[in-house]
Amino acid sequence: MLLIESGIKSVAQMNEIKKINEELENAYLESIQTLRYTVDAKDTYTRGHSDRVSEYSVLIGKHLGLSENDLKTLRVGGLFHDIGKIGVPDSILLKEGKLSDNEYSEVKNHPSIGAHILSGASIFKDIIPIVKHHHERYDGHGYPSQLSGENIPYFARITAIADSFDAMTSKRAYRDSMPIDKVISEFENGKGTQFDPKLTDLFLDILRNHFDEINEIQIKYK
Ligand SMILES: [Fe+2]
Repeated sequence: MLLIESGIKSVAQMNEIKKINEELENAYLESIQTLRYTVDAKDTYTRGHSDRVSEYSVLIGKHLGLSENDLKTLRVGGLFHDIGKIGVPDSILLKEGKLSDNEYSEVKNHPSIGAHILSGASIFKDIIPIVKHHHERYDGHGYPSQLSGENIPYFARITAIADSFDAMTSKRAYRDSMPIDKVISEFENGKGTQFDPKLTDLFLDILRNHFDEINEIQIKYK
């Protein structure tokens, strides 16, 4: 009898834990949606770009065989990798001509600003490394921390590839997208200097042999 009672009690506790987890998950998704509206209000280009970077990162993650939880981190990290641009003045962010050195250093603050914004909520702790380090380079010449090699958080190295790919292939008012053979040679050249070499090989394989998966994302978030 005692066993049955404790069994019933633990089922009730499990249900309670499940309910709390669902509530937390909903609060997380609502926070994400609120932040999305904030980003959208700032810059419509960033919206399409962030959606694609998010999806390309997840695609790389799937080819790596990462867990659902890791894919979720990549998805959300991609959505918010540039959220720090909220803190960069529009006069610089939307400028079409060449940026001065001072203006460029303002732009380079966006990963740290983004990490600071997200540090206000512990639910975002897993994506902060992505936001903060997506502009590091494998050779240590990136920003903001000049991390190199495997010192750069793994997910940030994945997002860096997705981010660069989208920068090369998305159309802007002042230029066309880059043809795919040029994109491939950019990644071949950037392997081990700008990008993690193993991840670059994997991404080159996706570009050469699974381009339909990339194409689906491009059509969805034109
Ligand atoms: Fe960025």
